[in-house]
Amino acid sequence: MDNNASGTGSSSFYSRLLARLYDPFMNGMERQELHERRKALLSNCQGTIPEVGAGTGANLPLYPAGTTILAAEPSPHMIQKATENLQSETVQANLEWIRAGVGDNELDERVQEGSLDAVVATLVLCTVDKSKEAIDRFYQWLKPCGQLIVLEHIKAKSSVGGFLQNMATPVWKYLAEGCHLNRPTDAMLKESGFILIEEEYFSKGVPFYQTIAQKPKDSLNG
Ligand SMILES: C[S@@+](CC[C@H](N)C(=O)[O-])C[C@H]1O[C@@H](n2cnc3c(N)ncnc32)[C@H](O)[C@@H]1O
Repeated sequence: MDNNASGTGSSSFYSRLLARLYDPFMNGMERQELHERRKALLSNCQGTIPEVGAGTGANLPLYPAGTTILAAEPSPHMIQKATENLQSETVQANLEWIRAGVGDNELDERVQEGSLDAVVATLVLCTVDKSKEAIDRFYQWLKPCGQLIVLEHIKAKSSVGGFLQNMATPVWKYLAEGCHLNRPTDAMLKESGFILIEEEYFSKGVPFYQTIAQKPKDSLNG
């Protein structure tokens, strides 16, 4: 899997700039909607949890005490920004950064297949190069009844919305380091073998989806 965080071959300067612009860009949406949703999704997490694409660290203060978070992030600029952000936050979890993305050996080596209680992927399946492969990998990592927690913007259900997203995605993808506006992540998860024990659609200018997806109890490979 190509883990160039940009997917665009963008320069280090541009990546650094985006890492600085990301929080101001997301600030309104975070305050109005996403922060509360993150809190609710993460409040019952336990054990050792890889958070893939941890970005500027929006989730990291929200994990309960006693959890160990493997914060996997391929962009050193995002890690730098997260580290700065966390200086003014209380982080209850044990935190370990891994500078790697989904599919990188550094991450796979830290995770034993069928061993995990949870995997967290928020606003990252829009960006990883092969999101179906990433979902399959998360499935392999989880133990039976383990949970994949996802919060994501998705492809619109309306044909007009979908058309507009298809038009905008090539430019947006270039500007936003590989982010696709038109990924049907919800549909991919429904076809992935997970049981979606909670799911919710909501809209914040663009359509969003959140789910807690559970690996079946009797799954064979866990
Ligand atoms: C839109 S940001 C989301 C950050 C954070 N998860 C959040 O909820 O705010 C997407 C992040 O995914 C990272 N990323 C890109 N490709 C990745 C990959 N293959 N594996 C893991 N993370 C990746 C980017 O560097 C970026 O920090």
